[in-house]
Amino acid sequence: MSVRISLVGKGGTGKTTLSALLIDYLIQKNKIPVLAVDADPNFNLNELLGVKVETTLSEVRENLLKNEVPDFMSRYEYTEMKVHQILIENRHFDLLVMGYPETSGCYCAVHSFLSNALEKLLRAYSYIVIDNEAGMEHISRLNLKEMEHLIIVSDASIRGINTAERITDLVKALKIKAENIWLIVNLCPENKKEELKIHVEGITKNLEIKFLGFLPQDNSLLEYELKRTSVFEWKNQLKSEAHKLFEKIFS
Ligand SMILES: Nc1ncnc2c1ncn2[C@@H]1O[C@H](COP(=O)(O)OP(=O)(O)O)[C@@H](O)[C@H]1O
Ligand SMILES: [Mg+2]
Repeated sequence: MSVRISLVGKGGTGKTTLSALLIDYLIQKNKIPVLAVDADPNFNLNELLGVKVETTLSEVRENLLKNEVPDFMSRYEYTEMKVHQILIENRHFDLLVMGYPETSGCYCAVHSFLSNALEKLLRAYSYIVIDNEAGMEHISRLNLKEMEHLIIVSDASIRGINTAERITDLVKALKIKAENIWLIVNLCPENKKEELKIHVEGITKNLEIKFLGFLPQDNSLLEYELKRTSVFEWKNQLKSEAHKLFEKIFS
């Protein structure tokens, strides 16, 4: 069975950056093959992974809805073929981009074809890393509801850290099954760690969240983004510290 890891949190906290760093970590540790899932309609994980996106799963879904299936294929076969076609394949990882959410229409039948094809696909990977949009509701979509690790990413603010509590409430309400819930506080100034740690401990002590640690604000990121340097080529403090945190989960 594959290990599923989902990253959630408010917008701009670093979910996509940390998803990319996690994929890099898993590949370095030979924990392959990895499937990267970009579940943000405004997808951009591909940029950090250095690959281009042509089509998304939402297009397959819309084609199914319009019943654009050739006569000689069953809808199951067609869906499976299409899901494989939209997969961006690489040496150690593949990327699946979910695309935009459903518009109005009756998707019930489409769902069963998609779920079936996705479930089959997901089983082929050792690790699946899911980069989410802000909010949680869409996690209930499709096959992403059960996971080994849910990583909540927060910025280094009191209100940010407090949302971790709300996210765990949502996890329960949406019947999302996460075996482990972790919290990472990203973009943390060195001189604020002590104070924030006290706050984090206060918040997490009554919850099922385990605090994984802080990550620094790293000014090299802007430079890498400007030069379109993929995460695999980064040599910076954020990468080495992120790898240390992931080691706590996966070693
Ligand atoms: N630790 C960090 N140090 C410096 N910049 C960061 C850090 N983490 C994220 N960023 C930057 O913040 C912005 C938002 O990050 P991103 O990963 O896209 O967040 P999200 O996916 O949660 O919206 C990006 O420009 C990213 O480069
Ligand atoms: Mg993002």
